Amino acid sequence: MKRRTFIQNASLSGVGLVAGAAAIGCNNKTESNVPVDAAGKEAVLPVVIATWNVHDATAKAWEVLEEGRSALDAIEAGCRVEEANAEGQSVGIGGLPDRDGNVTLDACIMDKDGNYGSVVYLQDIKHPISVARKVMEDTPHVMLAGAGARQFALESGFEAEDLLTEKSRKAWEKWKETSEYKPIINIENHDTIGMLAIDANGDIAGGCTTSGLAYKMAGRVGDSPIIGAGLFVDNEIGGATATGLGEEVLKTVGSFLIVELMRQGKSPQQACKEAIQRIVAKNDNIDNFQIGYIAVNKKGEVGYYGLQEGFWVTKYQEGKNENSASDYYNKKS
Ligand code: GLY
Repeated sequence: MKRRTFIQNASLSGVGLVAGAAAIGCNNKTESNVPVDAAGKEAVLPVVIATWNVHDATAKAWEVLEEGRSALDAIEAGCRVEEANAEGQSVGIGGLPDRDGNVTLDACIMDKDGNYGSVVYLQDIKHPISVARKVMEDTPHVMLAGAGARQFALESGFEAEDLLTEKSRKAWEKWKETSEYKPIINIENHDTIGMLAIDANGDIAGGCTTSGLAYKMAGRVGDSPIIGAGLFVDNEIGGATATGLGEEVLKTVGSFLIVELMRQGKSPQQACKEAIQRIVAKNDNIDNFQIGYIAVNKKGEVGYYGLQEGFWVTKYQEGKNENSASDYYNKKS
């Protein structure tokens, strides 16, 4: 489906006229710049937003929305782009391993109906986001871990492959020279990929995929596959997802918190900022780790906020695929 048709279809969905109006040149907007339909009612803007600079991933997700497919399909397709990128060392193939040299992946996905699927500590399978979707759609469970997740993936037709690339093996060998264990704030401007999308029907879905903390202890699982921590979607309100040090996101159930703050009337931006402030309030030293949150509400408004400088997001909306540097808390000034 061509972009204009997609946007017009979004308009016809009843919730999305607005998106169309904005994109094809009408200026029906409220003072807060939220587009409105002919009756003056605020409505939904289709959007894809992701943590970090992941143009190709958001472009793929947007392409899926343009085809008239669901936000859930868009999320899976977008996350797969980064999982297949062997140069990225924080997601999918090429992810940095744990202390023992094993690449272990965590991912989850959540749909408009509140269904949820998750895999933790998955080895040898490049696309954990797709395995997570299969857990959601083909099993009575929401989470599969370790050997069981791997077995389920193989039985579902996924192929086993070595995920430790030469680049990441060399980085691990170098790390072993000192074995100094420090959380890594931000690996080459790329870390856990969290993604949220709203489709032409105004429905929201989200996904989150990661190889977790580099050189973590064997068995460690972070926030990314945990409902409410790394990701949460409530189709009546909005969605949120996280990147950064999972231990801190888990302790404050960050994504659920953001959605609940939006339910209470906060904008996505205000909610992300408050979730970061919650982490700050619980920590004496906030200099040594990074957290970044992104959120979207039911109108298609987005927000993002980091703990440290250097958190970037990519947003595809109204036909434009754009990077932005996030505002952040720890200005150290
Ligand atoms: N946010 C990814 C992790 O901590 O594993």
